[in-house]
Amino acid sequence: MPGLDTLRQTFAKVFGYGDSGEELRFFFAPGRVNLIGEHTDFTGGYVLPLALTYGTWAVVHPRRDRTFRLASTSFAGKVEIDADKVVYRQADGWANYPKGVFREFNRFKVRLSGYDILYDGNIPKAAGLSSSASIEMVTATALNQVESLDYSLIELTKLAQRAENQFVGVNCGIMDQFASGMGQAGNAVLLKCDTMEYRYVPLSLGDYQLIITNSNKQRSLTESNYNLRRRECEEGVNIVRNQLAGFVNLGNVSLAQWQVAKKYVTVPEVKKRLDHVIHENERTLASTLALEAGNIQDFGQYMIESHESLRDLFEVTGPELDALFEEARRVEGCLGTRMTGAGFGGCTVSLVHTEAVSDFKAQVTRGYKGKTGLNPTFYHCNSGDGARELKGR
Ligand code: GLA
Repeated sequence: MPGLDTLRQTFAKVFGYGDSGEELRFFFAPGRVNLIGEHTDFTGGYVLPLALTYGTWAVVHPRRDRTFRLASTSFAGKVEIDADKVVYRQADGWANYPKGVFREFNRFKVRLSGYDILYDGNIPKAAGLSSSASIEMVTATALNQVESLDYSLIELTKLAQRAENQFVGVNCGIMDQFASGMGQAGNAVLLKCDTMEYRYVPLSLGDYQLIITNSNKQRSLTESNYNLRRRECEEGVNIVRNQLAGFVNLGNVSLAQWQVAKKYVTVPEVKKRLDHVIHENERTLASTLALEAGNIQDFGQYMIESHESLRDLFEVTGPELDALFEEARRVEGCLGTRMTGAGFGGCTVSLVHTEAVSDFKAQVTRGYKGKTGLNPTFYHCNSGDGARELKGR
C-alpha cells in the first residue's frame, strides 16, 4: 500500500514537477469481491459484495488549460485528452475508463478544468476483482471533490456504471461501482439493484476467514460472453413479463411465481439462465440472514450451490474455476467456495477455518496445478471502506 509521500514522489517523477503549494490531492477507491448474488444485478436482483483494501489511488493536480494528462504506474506512457473532445480510442487502453467518466460529467454539462492525474493500484488485473470499477470510482470521486460538485456517492456509482456501459461497451450492472463507492470496513453490503436499497451486513465469521484464489486465467469482459448472457436474460424477462401480472423484474419473482411462468420460456438456454438468477436471488437473501444469525455453515452451503448453478445453469465458470472449486471442496475446514464476479476465469472466494488455511493453499495449489498447469495465487480478503479522499501523509 503506497503512502501519500511515495505517491507524491512518483507523481513528481512521472509529470516532471512537484507540488506547488497544496494543490496535489489524493483519492482512493477499492476493488470488490462478491460473496454471493452473481449475475443478478442487471435484472434488478440482490448482490452481497464487500469492498477490499486493495484498490486504485489517484493523485490529482489541476492544470491551467483544459487538458487531461493521465499516467499509470502499471503502464508506460501518458494519455493526453482535450476536455471537450473525449472519444473512445482502443489504443488508450486502461485510460478509456477515466475518459468514460469525464464524458459522463460532460454530458451533465459540467465544464471540467484540466488535470494531471497519476493512477497507482494493487488489484490484480483482469482477475474479476473490479479493478476497472475502482478506476472509474476513484476518478468520479476525485472530480466531484476537486471541482466542488455536489453529486452523492450513489449518483457517482451510477455515473461510473454508465461510463462503463456506454463508453467502454461492457453492459455491466451496478454491483462493482456500488461496492467500490459504498463499501464499509467490517461489512458486506446487501443491495437490491433496481431500487438501490441496501443494508450493511457485519462479517462476523468466527473462526473462519475469506480467502480469494486467483485462477490466473486472464479474461476480458469486452471479449467474453458477458454481454451475451445479459441479452439472454433480457429475452427471458420479456417472456416472463407477459405471463406474470405485476411483474417488475427478476429480483421480484418468487420461486412459486417462477414455477408458473417457466413453462412459457421455451428456449432451453434462456430457461436455464433465469432458473439460475431466480434461485440465486433467494440464496442471496438466505445467505444474508444466515450471516446475520452467525450461521456460517449454512452460508457456506449457499456458496457451493451458487457455484454449481453458475456452472450448470448460467454456464460462466469454465475448467479453471471449476478445478479451483473442486479442489477447495476437498479441504476439510473449507465450508464454502464459489467463483466470484463475472466468471470465465478470474477468482473464487472461499470460507476457510483459520487453522486450515495452509492446508487449503497447499491442496488447492497441488490439485489445480495438476489439472490446469496453472499456479493459483491467494489473497486474504480484508474488507475496507469505499471511495474517498485521503488526507495527511
Ligand atoms: C461483473 C459485472 C457486475 C456483475 C458481475 C456478475 O463483475 O461488472 O455488474 O454483473 O459481473 O455478478
